[in-house]
Amino acid sequence: MDTFDAIKTRRAIKKFDPSHKMSPEEIKFLMELAILAPTSYNQQNWRFIIATDQDVKDKISKAARDQAQPKDGSLVIVLCGDTNAWKTNPNRYWRNAPKERQEQVTKALEKKYSGSSENRRDEVMKSCGFAAQTIMLAAKQMGLDSCPMRGFDYDDLAKVINLPQDHIIAMMVVVGKALEPAGPRGGQLALDEVVFENKFS
Ligand SMILES: Cc1cc2nc3c(=O)[nH]c(=O)nc-3n(C[C@H](O)[C@H](O)[C@H](O)COP(=O)(O)O)c2cc1C
Repeated sequence: MDTFDAIKTRRAIKKFDPSHKMSPEEIKFLMELAILAPTSYNQQNWRFIIATDQDVKDKISKAARDQAQPKDGSLVIVLCGDTNAWKTNPNRYWRNAPKERQEQVTKALEKKYSGSSENRRDEVMKSCGFAAQTIMLAAKQMGLDSCPMRGFDYDDLAKVINLPQDHIIAMMVVVGKALEPAGPRGGQLALDEVVFENKFS
């Protein structure tokens, strides 16, 4: 499957085959692709909870207001972010680069995030968005389907995954085998309603 087909055929699946399992190798392969998603200053601030245990997936479904995808999907990935990643030994994000580049990045990170909780939060959401789409397109290429989800009670899910202080949950992505295809697309807006040349009119 090429990238265009993966983009066109990815849909938010509602009914997954509960008997389908992913092998540990498949899950590792998928997560190795996920961490190639871009992050600002390569700060790699996402943290992924991966769940295949039925008991945990059931709890996640309950936190997701009883939506079926987490319990029936093969793999639930809760995409979280560490809002302190910018200051946690940032040289390691550029360990292949010269020392001057490492120092430059450390300073830039300090400037952007130290005084702004909004920037710290935004960065998690951006990074997790890219990672989520990477996961969903890679899943297609692996012959699998997915559903991005934000319909959950935040505090309940935080409790299930034991969310650490200074981490936030962005969304989850369920991966598995579709039992039923998604319904018809809701209806995409016309291109000229969302795309503007050079500036808004
Ligand atoms: C941030 C986000 C949260 C979503 N939350 C849910 C959800 O909780 N449950 C669900 O069934 N679908 C959820 N969806 C899927 C959307 O409803 C779906 O992507 C949209 O209707 C477009 O359909 P498509 O992805 O099949 O093209 C979510 C999608 C996004 C991007």
